[in-house]
Amino acid sequence: MALIELDHIVKTYDLGLSKVPALRDIHFSINRGEFVAIVGQSGSGKSTLMNILGCLDVPTEGHYRLGGRDVGELSDDELADVRNLEIGFIFQSFQLLPRASALENVELPLIYRGVAKKDRRERAIAALEIVQLKDRMTHRPAELSGGQRQRVAIARALVTQPSLLLADEPTGNLDSKTGEDIVQLFLELHGKGNTIILVTHEPKLAARCPRAVRIVDGLVIADGPGRAVAMANAEALGAEAVAQLLAAQHAAEAPRHG
Ligand SMILES: Nc1ncnc2c1ncn2[C@@H]1O[C@H](COP(=O)(O)OP(=O)(O)OP(=O)(O)O)[C@@H](O)[C@H]1O
Ligand SMILES: [Mg+2]
Repeated sequence: MALIELDHIVKTYDLGLSKVPALRDIHFSINRGEFVAIVGQSGSGKSTLMNILGCLDVPTEGHYRLGGRDVGELSDDELADVRNLEIGFIFQSFQLLPRASALENVELPLIYRGVAKKDRRERAIAALEIVQLKDRMTHRPAELSGGQRQRVAIARALVTQPSLLLADEPTGNLDSKTGEDIVQLFLELHGKGNTIILVTHEPKLAARCPRAVRIVDGLVIADGPGRAVAMANAEALGAEAVAQLLAAQHAAEAPRHG
């Protein structure tokens, strides 16, 4: 059974005088353990879709089933539980507490759940180990690089062992190399069985994901292997975009040093 089933999802923002059709007819499924990139231009509806997937917003029409349950039929309390227990969010701007150490930031979701201190520490350290930041756990966000801050945010999302990791443009504030490292980390988490949905508008990052879904104006216009979807996207943009994607793929395939 699919973990996520989007059944003809429509989302229209009602601004009184005008209506914005952000999602027009989104229909696809994601299985447990998949790693899917969502690509599309600014304003195409990616964040709107992520908000629905994360149970932060509800569709205007259609049904969203998560783990077989129709999210539209859950009460507010049940929805809050789904958000807390099943979903880990990772944002572009990291959203870490500035005065707290890396370790304390990662512990936070466990504090909300009333996990006892010793258990909390152990689980937070284990999550920081996964993102290879155990040696920086006493640092505050300001004492970390951008890529390290995003790793802390990923550890915070992982610490509760959610069934679904949602990352909306997590590489948007990072330089190109660091962005690729974060995608590499997601690929490793995917290898361990995590289900991940990653929004990116960088074709070369989508090209590295096993599956990519391309959205244009609130409609899915391509769904397939990341490489193929990224290439179709680049072809639509023109020769320069194709050349850039091929160069990035070539660089990624070159033997790595260090
Ligand atoms: N709260 C809102 N109220 C009204 N319109 C909105 C709201 N949020 C988004 N929109 C509109 O819905 C459309 C989709 O927006 P969305 O934020 O999902 O795009 P996006 O693909 O995430 O873009 P970006 O790459 O810039 O983050 C846009 O036209 C946007 O202006
Ligand atoms: Mg967005």
